Amino acid sequence: MKITCCSRITQPTTKGTSKESSASFNKRDYKLLSAVGVEVHPRGNGSNGNIMNAKGLISDGVKEEQKQWCFNATDISRRLINQTFRSILTVNEYIVVSFPDENDNIHELVCRISEVRTQEENDGTSKSMTSAEATMDDPYRGRVDLGTELYIYPSDPKSVTVLGGRCLPKGTLPEDVVHVTTSDMEWFPVRRLLLAPCIKLTKYVQVGRGKYKNEIPTLSDEERSEDAPTDDGCPHCKVPIDCCTFDRVLLFITSLLYPDEHSFALDLSEVNALSSAADALGLQVLDDLCQSQSSTFESRVIKDRYIRLAEVKTRNDHGELLILLDGMVLDISRWIDEHPGGPSIIPTQALNIDCTVFFEMYHVSRQAFLYLKSFYIGELSPEDAVNLRSSAEGVEASEGFLLSLRSYTDEWRVSIEEKAGEKVHKSF
Ligand code: HEM
Repeated sequence: MKITCCSRITQPTTKGTSKESSASFNKRDYKLLSAVGVEVHPRGNGSNGNIMNAKGLISDGVKEEQKQWCFNATDISRRLINQTFRSILTVNEYIVVSFPDENDNIHELVCRISEVRTQEENDGTSKSMTSAEATMDDPYRGRVDLGTELYIYPSDPKSVTVLGGRCLPKGTLPEDVVHVTTSDMEWFPVRRLLLAPCIKLTKYVQVGRGKYKNEIPTLSDEERSEDAPTDDGCPHCKVPIDCCTFDRVLLFITSLLYPDEHSFALDLSEVNALSSAADALGLQVLDDLCQSQSSTFESRVIKDRYIRLAEVKTRNDHGELLILLDGMVLDISRWIDEHPGGPSIIPTQALNIDCTVFFEMYHVSRQAFLYLKSFYIGELSPEDAVNLRSSAEGVEASEGFLLSLRSYTDEWRVSIEEKAGEKVHKSF
């Protein structure tokens, strides 16, 4: 299972087009893009002073202080089409294209997708739609094809020149589009009818994550993403939700609208938050989705006994991947290929030992905590926990880390009842 669904990236990526956007949807089902506006700026601002030549770049006779990056729009287009052919492009997505110069230095241009037009919109063949049909179109995504025309223009003509550059002629956006600016100052167009359900569901997702315990934040009227168009004639709306969460929920709602065409790939780290959102809203379809993507806590977790180290070792020897973290036994067998730290470090370094210290060392953010409940299968026997070798000899997990880990896990970790005659040492 691919874990991802956010289409928007806030940092430029060297991996070319954002994998996320294409991964979540079946590419065949998106409209072809007839035209795409691409705003370019040099990565790192060209501070090394190299000027490209040959493939459309100027260098000779330019004084050091006058040096400026200069590219041919046709070259940028060609590279972009090569990199994104048949993928889904989304407004506000960033793509990095590289140009080697004659000294084999690599120069990178960051290209932001500023606007997209799908074929029907442009060729005038689209018939008038009912509002229900209109909400089913996606005004800011589409599939790149050979016929997709790119309109390349510089973000700042002082820092980069684009020979043959041009802007996308003004087009008419569908009438029911609202420009949404998120709390992290990203913006994107959303169909008006999707807005209210999206905001509502997102709020509950945030609540499920433990946010809004005190108060729900609001954006002030003045705040608006710098990238948001000012003269597009569309209504603007600010939501107190980060763009990734908002977009994820939007994709989920879209997948409900197009049940046959779009499958929604659920991020395991989101299962708990989404599941409580589903409960709060009585959204059975979302609940079913959560259940189908991860085995349920009830059916998975061993509650009537401790798990012995010998059992963990045997299962690991037979190809499963169980890890031990602060007394918890976590089954990551099905997820290991998607571990952001790579699929090899855990099997080679973290099996059959207490990997709490590794966990603290390698995971700066608290993002990794969000997965733990989905992997939890029970408690390691305290007898074995006492003698367990640590992942870093002589180093102990910090108290602060343990406090924060436990404040997240205590809520759902099971406590095994001592049976008469059974000797149990509770060491954690
Ligand atoms: C259930 C257990 C684990 C989960 C859910 C998990 C999750 C994650 C996540 C979400 C990241 C991205 C970075 C971050 O969020 O801080 C990450 C990175 C990483 N993880 Fe894990 N991880 C687990 C166990 C481990 C263990 C046991 C090791 C070490 C043996 C490990 C080594 C790493 C490394 C080396 C990185 C990359 C760090 C970097 O790029 O700076 N992970 N992991």
